[in-house]
Amino acid sequence: MVGGAGSGKSLALLWEALDFVYSFPGFQALLLRRNYPELEKGLIADLRSTLPPHTYHWDDSDHIATFPMAAGRAPSKIFFGYCKDGKERSLSQYLSSAFPFIGIDEMGQFSFWAWQFLSSRNRINVGCEPNAQGRMPAPCMAGATNPMGPGWPWIKRMWLDLSAPPEAGDSFLINPDEYFHVHSTILDNQRLLDRDPGYLDKLKKLPEDLRKKLLDGDVNLVSGQYYSNFTRERHVVDLDADPGRVEWQPWQPVWISLDWGLAHFACAHWFTRALVRRPDGTRSETVVCYRELIVRETGIKDFARLMAEMCDGRFHGSPAQEKEAVTAVFVSHELFARRSDPSPDQTVAFELGRALKRRHLPFPQRAAGSASTQERRTGAAMIYEDLEAGELVFLASCHRTVSALPMLARSETDIEDVQKTETMEDDIFDSLKHGVLSIRRGRSKPLADEIRSRAEAIEDPVKKWFFLRAHNSGIGENDKWKNIGTELGPMWASRSQT
Ligand SMILES: Nc1ncnc2c1ncn2[C@@H]1O[C@H](COP(=O)(O)OP(=O)(O)O)[C@@H](O)[C@H]1O
Ligand SMILES: [Mg+2]
Repeated sequence: MVGGAGSGKSLALLWEALDFVYSFPGFQALLLRRNYPELEKGLIADLRSTLPPHTYHWDDSDHIATFPMAAGRAPSKIFFGYCKDGKERSLSQYLSSAFPFIGIDEMGQFSFWAWQFLSSRNRINVGCEPNAQGRMPAPCMAGATNPMGPGWPWIKRMWLDLSAPPEAGDSFLINPDEYFHVHSTILDNQRLLDRDPGYLDKLKKLPEDLRKKLLDGDVNLVSGQYYSNFTRERHVVDLDADPGRVEWQPWQPVWISLDWGLAHFACAHWFTRALVRRPDGTRSETVVCYRELIVRETGIKDFARLMAEMCDGRFHGSPAQEKEAVTAVFVSHELFARRSDPSPDQTVAFELGRALKRRHLPFPQRAAGSASTQERRTGAAMIYEDLEAGELVFLASCHRTVSALPMLARSETDIEDVQKTETMEDDIFDSLKHGVLSIRRGRSKPLADEIRSRAEAIEDPVKKWFFLRAHNSGIGENDKWKNIGTELGPMWASRSQT
């Protein structure tokens, strides 16, 4: 169920659960919400106002409602659950349980993985008995949500577009017959309109973004989309349709950025500079993200192996025979601190470095953009600027990255930042940010000009010489790339040493 606020979605979840528990003795239903306060104000309050208190027993410590059945039949139960500490991990408390009905309220607050994990618990519980017709229940799940929140992209994809969300991996197929959605708005809820006529006015007075979502239940927009300037026409290059759009420059640096995590997605992006034709027909030097690697639950050595395997020495569709020479690999700084699992005396970065070196790839360097919230913001803004200036494009073959970019939303608490979520989109963003931020772009002119004009103001020629020497390293025309804010890995381990 998707739609605007106050349309009766949450209540419908509760009614669905009640319908099951009264039909099948011994039935166990699970109703979930992300946080306890919301659960209490929402579904638990709805239960209290729907049923007289003597018709069920309420266990206040475990939040379980037990419904006595006819004599000799097992009582049914509704478990009211939430994520302890707000972490989805806490759902693992249900690992050994089975619930033939699971209802998730405000599902936009949950990730696809929560849905998948819960699906694995969506089975008939031991003790569930047949209904009056002698039939057992058909396990099912339902969700209710406003069309927003970090989970909205995967929900939209599964129920509205009837296609697998990118997080699901290639083997996940959607059978359209198994997915069904209803859309509703407050205008469908006459009871509420009669009881609280002011509520509609309140929704009408919301800022436009929110009003669209909460009043109209607008399913299309990502509310507060960060990269609203991203368009397929300008930023996505389909070389199959237009092979001449990119003129590869094999002498340019190739750099890889990556964001690795075992529990989440591990992403790597390959970049280079090339001459790209813009929609107006002119060609200009542009950063091209030309390859992506996005996997889940892959150890660091396997990830390095996959990276190396993907470096097939060719730019996509490029006739160039030159070997694709990877100049640098940028990883988030915490990999230099995190101990690696099988060999805890080493950091993850070191482990990665060894695996990369074995495959003739450079030792990883600390990426810019990962050390602080400020850096995250800078990275977010820099991607925006690059898109705006048309200085960053993606090959269409990076299809997960291309579909992730429009899904990134502005942070609710910090409009300069991208909303942090537990989704694949966020992991993709982290890797992209490292790639874009760690290599100083070709636009070194303004800084060079600035230094030159400041130097001109220095009269003493010796001072001037020292000033220039101190500031000029690495900004000349010939030095087209240089990482900022990064440290080199051990020299012995870098590729240039071999
Ligand atoms: N069919 C209905 N009959 C009576 N009251 C309803 C009905 N549907 C919804 N309501 C009431 O309308 C209000 C909004 O419903 P709710 O389920 O919280 O909406 P949503 O989850 O869509 O925001 C609640 O107070 C709920 O009890
Ligand atoms: Mg609700």
